[in-house]
Amino acid sequence: MTSPNSLTNTSPGLRRGWLPIGGPDEFPLDTPIRVELLGEGVVVVRTGGGVVAFADRCSHRNARLSDGRIVDGCLECPYHGWRFDTNGRCAHVPALGAGAAVPPSAHLAGYRLQERYGLVWVAIEDPVADLPEVAEWDDPTLRRIWLPPVVINAAAGQFVDNFLDFGHFPFVHAGTFGAGEDEHIGDYEVKRRDDGWGFVVEYPHMIHNNEDPLVKTGEHPLVQPRNMTYTYGAPFTIVLRLELPITGMVNVLFTALQPMTESTTRVYTTMLRNDCDTEEDTRRAIEYEFDIMAEDLAVIEKLWDKAIPFDVGQAHTRADRNTVEFRRIMARLLSA
Ligand code: FES
Ligand SMILES: [Fe+2]
Repeated sequence: MTSPNSLTNTSPGLRRGWLPIGGPDEFPLDTPIRVELLGEGVVVVRTGGGVVAFADRCSHRNARLSDGRIVDGCLECPYHGWRFDTNGRCAHVPALGAGAAVPPSAHLAGYRLQERYGLVWVAIEDPVADLPEVAEWDDPTLRRIWLPPVVINAAAGQFVDNFLDFGHFPFVHAGTFGAGEDEHIGDYEVKRRDDGWGFVVEYPHMIHNNEDPLVKTGEHPLVQPRNMTYTYGAPFTIVLRLELPITGMVNVLFTALQPMTESTTRVYTTMLRNDCDTEEDTRRAIEYEFDIMAEDLAVIEKLWDKAIPFDVGQAHTRADRNTVEFRRIMARLLSA
């Protein structure tokens, strides 16, 4: 395979990664659901035995299986009524009568699937790496806050590229936390994970802490230090741990992306915070997070195209080491 020269939402190499397709509640019992993934349809079915996923394409004449129904625990195609069990085995072809042999090509290949971190994840082919361990997920001192998933008009890679980037804060996020005092990017290290499919970056910097009520009373300064720890895992998961020493606030953002079509991506975010004791705190935290995301989307939904080029077309500086490493990992995944 030749090395692809860019990452898009339909790059075939992404079939070897764990990708989220929705929350478990989105897949009710015995109801075939279609989701978009890497520019293709996927049919997801929850039966008594669990959740399974296949390409949303009948092996007979390519009808959408998601338009079918569940009969006797099997997925029945709406076109000629072929039935597939939860292993993808074609168990019944009405035109041949009960018990007739079916051609081996009639069976469906099931996708790998797991439920974790409040999401259903699919890998179309054998994944290169497992999902990351999120150490804080079950931390009792942190409140787990789900943000409603958002569909954006940008590629998953572009969202990750932006999420990992800290040079844009004073410019894009001037309306929320970005501090003009934070323009210069100091030295930092990109620590590669042993298997090469992820990295960790720690970076202390300064923000305008508009979430701190003691700033308005003058008890705390507006400009405050913040420690960030990014844990990136291929293809599209990021855990960002934010710690504010002045307030003692800890906010861990777990973000995962579902590349839907060439130009659309669904963004899943969970916040794990130690400062949201009330519903009002939680509502405000969600609103603030969406304000920050809106600032990013105003830029990334209007980038030149929906691809991240690997070779030409983008200049990098040493301040971009983490996003360059992201490109390296993606290039490896796409040519693996
Ligand atoms: S297309 Fe599905 S049974 Fe014919
Ligand atoms: Fe941003």
